[in-house]
Amino acid sequence: MILVTGGAGFIGSNFVLDWLACSDEPVLNLDKLTYAGNLANLANLQGDARHVFVQGDIGDAALLARLLAEHRPRAVLNFAAESHVDRSIHGAEDFIQTNIVGTFRLLESVRAHWLTLPADERAAFRFLHVSTDEVYGSLAPGAPAFTEDHVYEPNSPYSASKAASDHLVRAWHHTHGLPVLTTNCSNNYGPYHFPEKLIPLMIVNALAGRPLPIYGDGQQVRDWLYVKDHCSAIRRVLQAGVVGQTYNVGGWNEKTNLEIVHTICDLLDAMRPRADGASYRAQITHVPDRPGHDRRYAIDARKIERELGWKPAETFDTGIRQTVRWYLDHPEWVQAVQSGAYRDWVAAQYG
Ligand code: NAD
Ligand code: TYD
Repeated sequence: MILVTGGAGFIGSNFVLDWLACSDEPVLNLDKLTYAGNLANLANLQGDARHVFVQGDIGDAALLARLLAEHRPRAVLNFAAESHVDRSIHGAEDFIQTNIVGTFRLLESVRAHWLTLPADERAAFRFLHVSTDEVYGSLAPGAPAFTEDHVYEPNSPYSASKAASDHLVRAWHHTHGLPVLTTNCSNNYGPYHFPEKLIPLMIVNALAGRPLPIYGDGQQVRDWLYVKDHCSAIRRVLQAGVVGQTYNVGGWNEKTNLEIVHTICDLLDAMRPRADGASYRAQITHVPDRPGHDRRYAIDARKIERELGWKPAETFDTGIRQTVRWYLDHPEWVQAVQSGAYRDWVAAQYG
């Protein structure tokens, strides 16, 4: 089996669902169930013996030791993290604890277990660390996209904590020989995306008649990848990636935030027109910019294509249509995640 951490979050739950749709190899899913973790994402796996869920922290060494000894996974895939830049600006403590200290404890637990394995299992074992393009910092307009050799220049508490975790993973390979792989992916979107991030927030706010808050001038650029394409890239890296290497994963879809919001409004105008006949674009409002806001991210995904033959299956057009459709078709999921804690965040961030 494989051990997935953070498998109740946005990308982790998509990964677990896709994994079990493609293979019968069981998944041990370790997730702390923070505000971002949601077992409803995995409701389709209820009663499926291939999925074993454990609520717990990647920083809990005793729990990890027990789980690793009991289940003997052939690979550990680390999705668990605090992941929201805006939250990291309000308070970075949880980011330091989970992304840095937690990754360190996980690496140590996995290393101790790996050392007990027979030689053939030790050689086949993999630790795959899921990271972000944000570790590379911000690109000037027209500058070449991030390659795997780009210098690390993280600018937010979130990206700094992810950069630190990437460095720990690298060091555990170089110093201790742990067979690691790292992926650095661009912004994901798709089903089960918590509605505090740009795309789901805009869909949910539009439908609720609320303002669509654009930070600053809305000309910041992100490189968007449909989440299921990220999942297929991770499966491919796990299968064929070279130990110690990092792979950038991206969709070749650079868009400004304003373009994204216009696209969402136009799709909703067609799929669920407003009762008054006006466009959802009328709800767009400009709000003060995020402090230290990175201007542009862009991923050069040629290495993973050249060396591992991976390419995204979706274009932005097909992916965003499916995403908007998914949110329209799952109002009960949206309603359930908009708990008291969610409302507290929205009140703190947007007033
Ligand atoms: P998310 O915030 O939706 O989910 C994170 C999950 O980790 C949650 O289920 C949460 O309960 C769990 N978790 C948090 N702290 C934990 C801990 N200490 N122990 C165990 N579980 C814990 O995040 P996501 O968007 O799904 O991102 C998953 C990973 O992918 C993260 O490492 C993130 O940095 C990376 N990533 C995200 C994106 C993106 O666009 N969302 C892009 C590139 C990389
Ligand atoms: P986000 O989804 O938080 O991802 P990240 O900051 O990790 O790239 O934000 C994506 C972009 O959208 C980013 O440039 C910030 C911007 N944004 C807004 O303009 N308004 C919002 O309400 C949110 C949440 C984000």
